[in-house]
Amino acid sequence: MNDERTLTVEQKHAFYEEAVQNPEGEVETLQDLYQKLKDGKKAKILREDFCGTGAIMCNWVKQGPDFKAFGIDLDPEPVEYGKKRHYSQLTKEEQSRVEYIMGDVFDTKTEKADIIAALNFSYYIFKKRKQLLAYFSMVREALSDDGIFVLDLFGGPESMMPLEESTKYETFKYYWDCDKFNPITHETLYHIHFKPKGGKKVKNVFTYDWRMWGFAELREILEDVGFSKSIPFWEGDDGDGGGNGEFFPTEEIDNCEGWVGYIVAYK
Ligand SMILES: C[S@@+](CC[C@H](N)C(=O)[O-])C[C@H]1O[C@@H](n2cnc3c(N)ncnc32)[C@H](O)[C@@H]1O
Repeated sequence: MNDERTLTVEQKHAFYEEAVQNPEGEVETLQDLYQKLKDGKKAKILREDFCGTGAIMCNWVKQGPDFKAFGIDLDPEPVEYGKKRHYSQLTKEEQSRVEYIMGDVFDTKTEKADIIAALNFSYYIFKKRKQLLAYFSMVREALSDDGIFVLDLFGGPESMMPLEESTKYETFKYYWDCDKFNPITHETLYHIHFKPKGGKKVKNVFTYDWRMWGFAELREILEDVGFSKSIPFWEGDDGDGGGNGEFFPTEEIDNCEGWVGYIVAYK
């Protein structure tokens, strides 16, 4: 039983997934993207880097018997939670096509994948260009000849100012808290807080000490390690000041207060 100022491991990851992830949607987005870019061909093997609970890869294999996925994360806590919550819900046959790898993305060798995804800005943990260069280079090596690397990023003036936003869900409230942004280094400190319904706010359930990388520098690093092409994707407008969840390729766009985008890089 948890006291009022902490959350159970189950609450922590269940709240996180509900607030920031949409695994079915991510699978659809990744597969649609691949099919559009590769003339209708489907991606079969997904590698989910920084997979956490592995929600995306567990949904990936539900596409059919030809689909395989593996995910890499070095923290046993989300991995164990993911095995209970997601992996256990798969059929035995589906389970045989999923693999959780407890390891560091820097020294884990894997079978070649059609898509490698690094989502929810996880690679922002690498603050030095040299680190990112080494990581992207390993990703390129691990892709099949026709493979793509998909990464998300965010920015906009709002994300660079101390600011706390909250969203209400049925059983909890979610807070995204920008604590610090250093305009010189682009180092940032973000926290996620949760308040269970009827309970007290639990602060710093997740903390992210990151460097906020942007489209231009990421694309240059991808090019430097040998990716043949990279395409920026920007989110469509919902007509009400927000995003509509649909992303389109573009090389030029008007800035906005806060945005989330993707880069897709070809091996
Ligand atoms: C922001 S969470 C993202 C989790 C999940 N991918 C998502 O979309 O919500 C970052 C994850 O990266 C993992 N991580 C951090 N550094 C890593 C590394 N060098 N190798 C593998 N996993 C790492 C952490 O344990 C954590 O689960």
